[in-house]
Amino acid sequence: MTIMTRFAGLALAGLMIAGPVAAQDAVADAIKARQSQMRLYAFNLGQLGAMAKGAIEYNADQASAAAGNLALLSTLNAGAMWVPGSDSMSVSNTRALPELWDNMADVGAKAQALAAATAAMNDAAGNGLEALQAAMGPLGGACGACHKAYRAPE
Ligand code: HEC
Repeated sequence: MTIMTRFAGLALAGLMIAGPVAAQDAVADAIKARQSQMRLYAFNLGQLGAMAKGAIEYNADQASAAAGNLALLSTLNAGAMWVPGSDSMSVSNTRALPELWDNMADVGAKAQALAAATAAMNDAAGNGLEALQAAMGPLGGACGACHKAYRAPE
């Protein structure tokens, strides 16, 4: 048994003892956690995007830092943040569509595609503006593909 699954088991046991109020808190916390991860994606991607379109000057160190953060973020084990019952039909404050929970294999594939795109950006970002720009499309596309399928419009 891995540490992660043992931790998940403990968390579940805790929910069953504490009852529905704590369960609601756990759902709200999980939603906040995953939205926070998404915000960190957006912050770091935003820096790369601003350089790509010339809104701020290209800086190899800054680009590498943002790309490194994206690569790291996309390798987090975020499984516990997507608890059943935390979809947009069941609770408020989330835009995660219920379809996400019916298509976990595809969600995993889209997360893998993002990890591949962030790794490519991590290799490219410090190698000049053109290399960064070339990696931008696939990276933005990996974010967008998942949002199109599993995120409700604002
Ligand atoms: C595997 C699917 C998936 C991938 C890949 C993905 N997202 Fe998301 N994203 C979601 C879902 C689902 C939500 C809605 C989460 C919620 O509201 O609970 C979301 C929400 C967001 C939000 C809104 C957060 C908030 O505070 O409500 C932002 C910003 C965001 N994503 C940015 C990104 C960026 C940038 C990338 C790529 C670097 C990315 N996402 C990749 C699925 C994904």
